[in-house]
Amino acid sequence: MAKGKTKKVEPAKGPLRGEVTVPGDKSIGHRAVIFGSIAKGESRISNLSAGEDNLRTVQAFKDLGVKIWDEGEALCIDGKGWDSLCPAGRVIDCGNSGTTMRLLSGVLAGRPFVTTLDGDASLRQRPMQRVIDPLTQMGAEIFGQNGKGVAPLEIRGGQLRGIHYVSQVASAQVKSAVLLAGLQAEGTTVVEEPQQSRDHTEIMAQAFGAEMRVENRSVSLKGRQQLCGRNVKVPGDLSSAAFFLVAAASVTGSDLVIRGVGLNPTRSGVIDILRRMGASVEILRPWEETGEPVADLRIIGRGLKGVEVGPEMGARTIDEYPVLSVAAALADGITTISGVKELRYKESDRIAVMTRELRKLGVQVEEREDGMRIDGRKRLKGTQLQSYGDHRVAMALAIAALSADGGVEIDDGACADISFPGFFDLLEEICRS
Ligand code: S3P
Repeated sequence: MAKGKTKKVEPAKGPLRGEVTVPGDKSIGHRAVIFGSIAKGESRISNLSAGEDNLRTVQAFKDLGVKIWDEGEALCIDGKGWDSLCPAGRVIDCGNSGTTMRLLSGVLAGRPFVTTLDGDASLRQRPMQRVIDPLTQMGAEIFGQNGKGVAPLEIRGGQLRGIHYVSQVASAQVKSAVLLAGLQAEGTTVVEEPQQSRDHTEIMAQAFGAEMRVENRSVSLKGRQQLCGRNVKVPGDLSSAAFFLVAAASVTGSDLVIRGVGLNPTRSGVIDILRRMGASVEILRPWEETGEPVADLRIIGRGLKGVEVGPEMGARTIDEYPVLSVAAALADGITTISGVKELRYKESDRIAVMTRELRKLGVQVEEREDGMRIDGRKRLKGTQLQSYGDHRVAMALAIAALSADGGVEIDDGACADISFPGFFDLLEEICRS
């Protein structure tokens, strides 16, 4: 990804009002493309995000020989089953996408050929041992760079056997990698995790015909399952909507509707936390899309107050902490966030980065090993900020800018395209209306 230009974000002139839609859910989009590619039969995926991360997964399966094409608004996949995947003939570039690299590792662990997965500088630093360990136990051979458990990864797939894996981290990417390998393995695979992580893989796999047993923190399935292609409509991404939720919640008098947002309970911690902070978030018109709950959200800004966000919120809120730390900076009183050391292993070290950038905005922040303590101050000081190439940090800082005197300059706004192309234009539009 090329480093983008500095982005200036002006303070909001008044409350945010109107309606927005956000791109398709990034996590669900990855899974729709993966299951469409390993199933037999045609799949049409609509509302897939044009964000760079999802496009990496699409390109990866094209590299592995799957016929995938655009038809109008939809992405069509001519799936021919597990055995149709063939050697890529080149290194698969996962870009910035941890989900692409970890889930693909699970698929490739069971394929009888060698593949190399690589990514950008950020992805090359992220921990891959967490997928190497279980996939190696299942029978794959995976080599990380210099034996350090980081990309590039060389994966020699083959015959797998099912395992009972007790994961030390609540990670949907680890769980999904093991389940994708387990679907190809001999015998039964069980994954247990310390806290239930997002269950989009389980929902999507079952929608494509897989059989499994799901008991909140544990999933088990029998191997050698063939899947059937189907159509999927991807709901709007709650993690993208979160930026607008916090924007409206923190600017008093705002009244914003966000249409068609995925509300899977394993992802919706941000709504619970904003409500506890005093925001009004209404769920309107709920419906279901490919087994996933969806609804319109209405948020009314009436000021926020500091709260305690404990470890129990971690898995359900994991990608929303950067923007929630901005909500905390704008709240009345103190917010403490704990039990989320995992934030240090994301696209950037999000605890260190948000601490540093919020301090530049004049906020008193205490950095802790597994969280932060933030003393809210309502108005922020306009200044120059750095996103460290992390899309969610860049967008969180843009929301802070709405309440910063003189606005904010963010060094690299283009990285928002990883999950939310058009984010800055949409923000400007909604602030103008
Ligand atoms: C994701 C899982 C989470 C999340 C990431 C997307 C997924 O990561 O932070 O943005 O799509 O499975 P972990 O599994 O590492 O917690």
